[in-house]
Amino acid sequence: MAYNIYILMLCFIQAVAAKVPAIIVFGDSSVDTGNNNYIPTIARCDFQPYGRDFPGGLPTGRFCNGRLPPDFLSESFGLKPIVPAYLDPMYDISYFATGVCFASAATGYDNATADILKVIPLWRELEFYKDYQQKLRGYLGVEKANEVLGEALYTLSLGTNDFIENYYTIPGGRQSQFTIQQYQDFLLGIAENFLRQLYDLGARKISVTGIPPMGCLPALRTTNFLDHHDCGCNEDYNNVASEFNGKLNNLVAKLNKELPGFRVVFADGYHILLQLIKKPSRFGFEVAEVGCCGSGTFETAFLCNRHNPFTCTDANKYVFWDSIHPSEKTNKIIADYLLTTYLKMFL
Ligand SMILES: *[C@@H]1O[C@H](CO)[C@@H](O)[C@H](O)[C@H]1NC(C)=O
Repeated sequence: MAYNIYILMLCFIQAVAAKVPAIIVFGDSSVDTGNNNYIPTIARCDFQPYGRDFPGGLPTGRFCNGRLPPDFLSESFGLKPIVPAYLDPMYDISYFATGVCFASAATGYDNATADILKVIPLWRELEFYKDYQQKLRGYLGVEKANEVLGEALYTLSLGTNDFIENYYTIPGGRQSQFTIQQYQDFLLGIAENFLRQLYDLGARKISVTGIPPMGCLPALRTTNFLDHHDCGCNEDYNNVASEFNGKLNNLVAKLNKELPGFRVVFADGYHILLQLIKKPSRFGFEVAEVGCCGSGTFETAFLCNRHNPFTCTDANKYVFWDSIHPSEKTNKIIADYLLTTYLKMFL
């Protein structure tokens, strides 16, 4: 019986794969496969131990010990085992034709968030995409390229930095202009505008990932401890994330109704990640409170480096790789979960 279900799953995946000729990625470090290596920013990780479990042990610029969810999804669709970064000069349009990543670590929906560490703002990710469309038409011919662009799976994964890097961190910034609810609505306005533009450019299948339970990220548990002597998750941050995700879900429903042929799915990464954090042993993890790299309590980017003697030896035992970013094993579990959502939505 279980075997039959497995075969059935494989058939579904093949059927969907046949309809997904490319995967096109927008967002932040949750999905940036290396664009920040090619811009002057400190929000980078093109050094060890990042990439430790990547084929060849290569630090690619992914904020992880290995691969990210889009890489696993691409592989599941029968496409390439990685989604290359658009700014990486190693690749050209022949490789990008089946998958491309425009994401930039430390960016957000808000332009002001990208400004903090001088990374690629979301509007520029879209400019890169327009540039890509032209190149793809040159490479495949207009008709074939438009078919690929219309059938491709687009994913959008960002928003966390708008809250943790920007709103709650920069004094006199967005906090002095917006209440937290108003700021959520401001971000959602930008998300809506972005999705409408993608639609106008020919995208039809889009996955919008909400934000994770931010208050459970190891770095935020550390601040919670410093502020309130509480080692648990910061529930205020989690509530803000849930509330934002709820509104994003409503936006997705609205656009699905309004725009003919548009199939946007709200991909809920919040609950699956919260399950891993609350019940790590059920998924084969041993540690969920801190990350593998360094002390696991605050290190990310340049603070997570190979001179740190405390970095764990087996990242598969950890839900988090550094104090903000999931381990490769977590990314695989999230990707498998997203895949089941896509099978329902896009078949
Ligand atoms: C972000 O910046 C771009 C480029 O300057 C601009 O076109 C866009 O309107 C800005 N977005 C918002 C929400 O201010």
